[in-house]
Amino acid sequence: MQVTVVGSGYVGLVASACFAELGHWVICVDNDTAKVAALERGETPIHERFLPELLERHRGKRLKFTSSLSQAVQQSAVIFIAVGTPSTDNGDCDLSYVEVVAREISRSVSGYKLVVQKSTVPVCTSEWVRRIMVLNGAPENAFEVASNPEFLREGTAVSDFLFPDRIVIGANSKRAACLLQEIYRPLTDGSYTRRENAIPEPDQARIPARLIVTSTRSAELIKHASNAFLAMKISFINAVGNICEAVGANVEEVCDGIGSDPRIGDRFLSPGIGYGGSCFPKDLKAFRAVARESGYDFRLLDEVIRINEEQCLRFLRKVRSALWTLKGKRLAVLGLAFKGGTDDVRESPAITLVELLLREGCEVVAYDPAAMVKSREVLGNRVTFAESAYDAAEDADALLLLSDWEEFAVLSLPRLRRALKYPIVIDGRNLYDPQMMGENGFMYYSVGRPEAFPKENSEQMPQLRKAS
Ligand code: UDX
Ligand code: UDX
Repeated sequence: MQVTVVGSGYVGLVASACFAELGHWVICVDNDTAKVAALERGETPIHERFLPELLERHRGKRLKFTSSLSQAVQQSAVIFIAVGTPSTDNGDCDLSYVEVVAREISRSVSGYKLVVQKSTVPVCTSEWVRRIMVLNGAPENAFEVASNPEFLREGTAVSDFLFPDRIVIGANSKRAACLLQEIYRPLTDGSYTRRENAIPEPDQARIPARLIVTSTRSAELIKHASNAFLAMKISFINAVGNICEAVGANVEEVCDGIGSDPRIGDRFLSPGIGYGGSCFPKDLKAFRAVARESGYDFRLLDEVIRINEEQCLRFLRKVRSALWTLKGKRLAVLGLAFKGGTDDVRESPAITLVELLLREGCEVVAYDPAAMVKSREVLGNRVTFAESAYDAAEDADALLLLSDWEEFAVLSLPRLRRALKYPIVIDGRNLYDPQMMGENGFMYYSVGRPEAFPKENSEQMPQLRKAS
């Protein structure tokens, strides 16, 4: 099928590459001409596993890039809108980019078109898109608008797209639903995974993917409710972790105990420095605003957001309690991305913490395997960027672990110990076993778990100040 994807951000670019991989002819449109030129040259603007391979495989063949939306619309029956939907100052979802695109599409409608909203948007957006298109001259019977939310996680977006738990299609007509089902058929009939050069299926992949067909409004709500629920799980476990710290329990043991109940599940129960990224913070606020406008006061979401914001401040207090004073301290920061496996620093709690530490007068030497370029755009020369985790640790007063990169969990502890001025590690992602850290000579602080100290120093180096 010939499809157009508008927007070449995380969602649009991954969707474009994956639609081409499924066998469709894809035109990916972006109004950022520099981005389009870079994509045409063969660059991959984001750090995403398997994306370079897919772009290489399909670029110039099944996948073309352009800035001309009108031409792309004329050539395609199905047009996905995947432009950004940021937060406005009051937490609402800014739909102005979606509106601009809808207006532009309406000028090129000739023959039947299905416009599919893929960005995360408030409920009823599909109906607004339809209305805008009609107001701008699109013939009422010549097009339909559907919703097809994505559930991609950055870092594993390609695998999430090609091996999804579910595909949600929100369509108000049979024709629209059938067109979308046709696009996803290789995933719902399991044929994609049987292909010789298919992207490897992840563990626990659900094959074939489950298809859920709903109204457009339900599909829009599914997306917001999913992200809000996941964020609630994280804030819940962070709150439980805080109690664990106060009473000397271990949040990992608690997670094991509660997560083994399948009604709760053990995934998305890792405590840390709070959730970040381009989705959860923005979507929680947007869902809160949607609920308010619909007449429901969804205060639970306020609390989820509050716990999350406090989690960063709690971690700062933990750093202070481990170091006593902060001014002038040289801190090695490992991880700037909002989580491991991505170069994205949007709403990264790691960046928030670095900003707070700088304000306290600390000197920060940071390292991230992928997010250094994007971090430099935000932090400039206020931070020194190191070449490796060990370089960052050199002569530092303490080491802070802020993103859960796999490579940070397997560092050589003796080497780290030698590099640091003082053997103090404050782990915001629980990457190490406290007992092992103590045995390796570290004073080790993590989230929701008991602190650990080197045996010989346990008397001389008590906790200096309570974290809470
Ligand atoms: C997406 C979704 O849009 C958002 O709703 C979801 O919650 C998170 O993921 P993302 O892909 O990360 O956002 O957005 P971004 O990286 O900002 O990319 C959007 C792209 O659309 C940009 O490349 C931008 O240049 C392009 N764009 C924007 C257009 O082509 N036309 C416009 O009018 C506006
Ligand atoms: C999220 C959703 O998972 C995805 O379905 C949706 O389409 C987009 O938003 P993403 O933002 O890429 O994906 O990252 P995710 O893996 O969900 O993590 C979000 C944040 O929560 C990160 O900052 C992460 O570190 C944090 N997190 C996640 C925790 O603190 N604990 C956990 O147990 C899981």
